[in-house]
Amino acid sequence: MIFDSDDDKLLLIPGPTPVRRDILDALAIPTIAHTSMRLADIMSTALKHLKTVAGTKDGRAFVIAGSGTLAQEASLLNFVAPEDTLLVASNGFFASRLAEIASQHGMKVVVRTAEPGTSITPDGLDQALHESGATVVTFTHVETATGVMAPLAEFMRVIRRNGALSIVDGVAGFGGTPEPMDELGIDVLLTGAQKALGVPPGLAIIIAGHAAWERRLARTDALPTYYADLARWAPIMERPEKYFSTHPVNMIRALGRALEIIMTEGLDARYRRHRRLAENFRGGLTEMGFEPFTDSDHLAPTLSAVRTPRGVTSSRFRERLASNGVVSAGGLGDPDDRVVRFGHMGNIADGDIATALEAISRSLN
Ligand SMILES: Cc1ncc(COP(=O)(O)O)c(C=O)c1O
Repeated sequence: MIFDSDDDKLLLIPGPTPVRRDILDALAIPTIAHTSMRLADIMSTALKHLKTVAGTKDGRAFVIAGSGTLAQEASLLNFVAPEDTLLVASNGFFASRLAEIASQHGMKVVVRTAEPGTSITPDGLDQALHESGATVVTFTHVETATGVMAPLAEFMRVIRRNGALSIVDGVAGFGGTPEPMDELGIDVLLTGAQKALGVPPGLAIIIAGHAAWERRLARTDALPTYYADLARWAPIMERPEKYFSTHPVNMIRALGRALEIIMTEGLDARYRRHRRLAENFRGGLTEMGFEPFTDSDHLAPTLSAVRTPRGVTSSRFRERLASNGVVSAGGLGDPDDRVVRFGHMGNIADGDIATALEAISRSLN
């Protein structure tokens, strides 16, 4: 059996997020040729919409089969040159993974790490840039491990003042909170399909700004990757009917449908909805005795990390919550077993938040 009753639970982990029926239906349309003009049209429209979500006119969008980690790795490989020093401003697990990937590829890496549940400050970033002489900076905009949203605009001001290139991991933010590339001067923005875009997992998405792309094209060294070399993909993203590697045809359809939904909702309305749902959800959790794990200046609108009420372990609570129909996530590196993480991003509605709060209340009693 590939389906059982557990599959119907409300998926409130910080990604993958619940996938709307019409997006699932898009996946079920018969597979067409990866080189067909029909798929090329769908893909070109999706790439255009991705650029709209990313707020860039001259940027280039790339969509390849993979996941967020591939988007991280491809971004580092394509935009950190051998002569660069990379500064990782880490607010937690997923930023530290960026450092791990860079180290594995032999890049010169400097890491600054925030206290759990807080963010590196813009001043701290400035100082780290001066001390390290870094030429490229990377960080998670929203850190899924802690629910921390970094101060993106302030970070970008510091990075631009220092003349460094920026690689922003937008995996847990993109489509749920603004990440306007041209306005803020973000050079490279990366994400996956399964978070605030509301698509099933399986796509690595990268948007490179104009200057970053020029820099990539100017490189003459051979990248230590074949599949993730974006210079090989660039002509394909312009003419998706050309072949480099087979497009994940059905996933591209699902992405196309998800982006239509986003365009119809409108970005401002979508970001407002995410803020409203986050506030309502966190208000309900506080009333039930949950304590914030994330410091109040850095709360993300896309997910919440909280500590359970006293005397309740995260694992026991989450087990009961699952039996009441809602799936949540535990902490990453949580020795006390008290952290619970909830995603509230993508295409979820007020009714889902109400359902979740009611199930949480039942699970505590
Ligand atoms: C901020 C962030 N970056 C990167 C990743 C890695 O993405 P994936 O699990 O799709 O490889 C995740 C996954 O949750 C994430 O939250």
